[in-house]
Amino acid sequence: MALLSILVLHGPNLNLLGRREPAVYGSQTLQDINDSLTQIANLLGVKLTFFQSNHEGGLVDEIQSALDRHQGILINPGAYTHTSVAIRDAIAAVAIPTVEVHLSNIHQREAFRHHSYIAAVAIGQISGFGADSYRLGLEGLVKHLQQQS
Ligand code: DQA
Repeated sequence: MALLSILVLHGPNLNLLGRREPAVYGSQTLQDINDSLTQIANLLGVKLTFFQSNHEGGLVDEIQSALDRHQGILINPGAYTHTSVAIRDAIAAVAIPTVEVHLSNIHQREAFRHHSYIAAVAIGQISGFGADSYRLGLEGLVKHLQQQS
């Protein structure tokens, strides 16, 4: 049987991880996070494809192109979490099981970060565990997909 394929999406400003507000987002770079995810994916026996964009339309295009290519999506939508109906609609349109992750605990921060447009179309949300949020999100997503199949 072919390996489960998961698209890992990183939204705006996450390319600056490591330099960006380290007190909030930690010291790991995006490459560090992707490398750790790859190691976990190897253990879990799944294949990951990574994509980062600072542009809403780029993320929408990538979600659409996941159709028939990926069985799951792991996404940190960054600030688009709180603004993007377009990303929400793209996830709903492709109907690919999606887990939303955040490094920081968005519910503990400014009020404008408390609402997520993505949460309603995601299987679940993991927020506040730093880089570990991605690992927890990936494990939850893979378990969900394995239970489905
Ligand atoms: C973030 C939280 C968002 O509010 C913020 O805009 C980000 C990062 C996180 O991972 O904690 O860019 O998604």
